[in-house]
Amino acid sequence: MSGSDLIKNDYNPEEIEYMLRENVNALKGSIDQIYYGLLNYLTESEQRNFLSYLKDQVNSLQDTLHKSVVEKAAHINDLNLQLSKSYKELELLKQSLEQRVKKKTREIKKVQQVTIFALARLAESRDQETGDHLGRMRMYSYMIAKELATMKEYKEYIDQKYINNIYYSSPLHDIGKVGISDTILLKPGKLSVEEFEVMKGHTLIEDRTLGDAEKQLRKKSKSFLSMGKKIAYCHHEKWDGSGYPFGLKGNDIPLSARIVALADVYDALTSKRVYKNAMTHDMAKSIIIEGSGKHFDPVLVEVFLKLEDKIKDYCMRKFAD
Ligand SMILES: [Fe+2]
Repeated sequence: MSGSDLIKNDYNPEEIEYMLRENVNALKGSIDQIYYGLLNYLTESEQRNFLSYLKDQVNSLQDTLHKSVVEKAAHINDLNLQLSKSYKELELLKQSLEQRVKKKTREIKKVQQVTIFALARLAESRDQETGDHLGRMRMYSYMIAKELATMKEYKEYIDQKYINNIYYSSPLHDIGKVGISDTILLKPGKLSVEEFEVMKGHTLIEDRTLGDAEKQLRKKSKSFLSMGKKIAYCHHEKWDGSGYPFGLKGNDIPLSARIVALADVYDALTSKRVYKNAMTHDMAKSIIIEGSGKHFDPVLVEVFLKLEDKIKDYCMRKFAD
């Protein structure tokens, strides 16, 4: 322990200050006594020489101190300039890295979205769907979700992330059809009761597949696949409980699946298949109105009618292409 520590331990700050002041006064007194005592022993000429000597010493000390302070200040100034330059370089590097990370993240996300859509399309290619069924149904789903987000009852629940998720995950709804045999999947006529039971299984295959994929992801990345899983699982459920695989009813059916159910049926009705012609928008609209409260969530049917012109315009594009 140092002397100053010992003093600090035994005395409070006021006592230390008092002691220091007393000691400085005593020292000053001693120096004065030596100085004036010394002057008494010197002749006038010696006193002048002595005072001149003291003056030189003081001036020399002042010069040394001044040089030292100037040098230190210049050095500190240099250091400050270097630090400021380094901070600017670091800031530029940070901005550049952030931009590169953002760009890479966007690229990876785009690759993921394209890959998922390609997978969904691959599954669809085995089916009898024609044209860009997935592209249209995901756009209808997106439009409906976006409109819901403006409504008081859904504002809290549906944000931009939800709207994006439904756009990117809804094409996965029928991916489980890859597990259904060609004889059933491509059968031109009506399916038998047994065949229809097998066909219903595509929702459960999807749930297992997407559920396994979801388990491999960290919590933050799950929302997209979680929604995809709900949609795949429940897009054949009906509002009145007469759907499959479990006959869920009303709001027990996830909202995303209710939206996709309507979008999927509307596009199937208005599209040509090898076994049927495309219905007009008005005919499909009548079927959807008829299905309100039975097949479809009545609120979603209202939203569909509100968006009718936009949906019809988008639907008509396939005839223009
Ligand atoms: Fe399906």
